[in-house]
Amino acid sequence: MNNFNLHNPTRILFGENQIEKLASQIPEGSKILILYGGGSIKTNGIYEQVTEALETFKVIEFGGIPPNPEYAVLMEALSIIKSENITYLLAVGGGSVLDGTKFLAAAALYEGDTPWDIVKNNIPTKKGMPFGTVLTLPATGSEMNSGAVITRAETKEKYAIGGPGLFPQFSILDPTVIKSIPQRQLANGIADAFVHVLEQYITYSVGANLQDRFAESILQTLVEVAPIIIKDPSDYKAAANFMWSCTMGLNGLIGQGVPQDWAIHMIGHELTALFGIDHARTLAIITESHYTHNLESKKEKLAQYATRVWDITEGTMEERAKAGIQKTTDFFKSLGIDTKLSDYTDDFKGTAEEISTRFTDRGWVKMGENATLTPTDVATIVEMSY
Ligand code: NZQ
Ligand code: ZN
Repeated sequence: MNNFNLHNPTRILFGENQIEKLASQIPEGSKILILYGGGSIKTNGIYEQVTEALETFKVIEFGGIPPNPEYAVLMEALSIIKSENITYLLAVGGGSVLDGTKFLAAAALYEGDTPWDIVKNNIPTKKGMPFGTVLTLPATGSEMNSGAVITRAETKEKYAIGGPGLFPQFSILDPTVIKSIPQRQLANGIADAFVHVLEQYITYSVGANLQDRFAESILQTLVEVAPIIIKDPSDYKAAANFMWSCTMGLNGLIGQGVPQDWAIHMIGHELTALFGIDHARTLAIITESHYTHNLESKKEKLAQYATRVWDITEGTMEERAKAGIQKTTDFFKSLGIDTKLSDYTDDFKGTAEEISTRFTDRGWVKMGENATLTPTDVATIVEMSY
């Protein structure tokens, strides 16, 4: 096991009726900006619960943060934060609203002239404006990590930002919020969380038995609850397991002391930036090609995954590894998620070269757990996923 240094300061309030406890989590006298998305919270009762819980505070709201939080929209919120002397941010939404709020937490205290630099140059945020979250869509793990992904439509760019100042102070995880989530987003949430775990697990073994089993148990739980959630998102038991699995998939714990990959995400972000494909679906497009292309260096872990998560006990290591890849694709399809780029766009020709060139231009030339994945490999992987 590799050395590690783990600190996660986010308080989690998990369960039914936890939104009532909001006021106890925010410093008295705070002037709060509530941030939300396209309006789902106004029709499913979450908005009422939040505003009722914050009756004693001065509250302003900013809605309209779109999926793949858009820089231009966030800049409007930033000017409100400044003109209204906001002291506390509250994100109420899915990963996009949470990530947008993280960007604002960073930008509000940023001393440079152009907040886009935080994103473009990935400037780490040591101290951000304090914020909390009410999560309405399990998927990203953003509720308990310090990362965010920000999009700029104007230039078709999408980049990750982060830093120790971007952990939420608290996150409220009430599994009953799941019942209003559309099927497409439920499927996305399951697939995204699944790939978060894979990116921290399908690498090479460093003898971190516990981390391996953390990863496998999250994958098994997601496989177990997926059909139940898709059929009936109001099933509380399944919803609770789904929600906590998503959080645990990317709150830093399972990735400690082990090599990590993240190439699927890096490539997937480009597909969202170029074609607007949902984040989770971009991952489903790239996963099979990535693991097939890198079979040699990943086959031991892939075979372990196939055996422990999918119960594949027959065959050589390579055969089991390949069967594990196939099971993953089948799992995405069972969620109603297509796994080829051509399922989403007819305009895919040249995408492999375009993404590969972008990576070269940014100096992203040594990716993956072994730092051996080059832009040429990226082009091959994208082409295999056409
Ligand atoms: O905007 P509203 O009206 O709220 O509707 C949203 C949105 O249309 C809807 N929704 C959310 N909760 C709902 C609901 N509808 C009904 N009932 C509810 N309870 O779902 C739609 C999608 O929301 P979004 O926040 O975009 O989804 P998700 O949570 O999947 O977030 C995706 C974003 O997170 C980034 C992605 O790149 C993408 O931009 N990621 C963030 C990560 C992180 N911070 O650690 C890691 C991930 O790998 C990922 O890259
Ligand atoms: Zn993701």
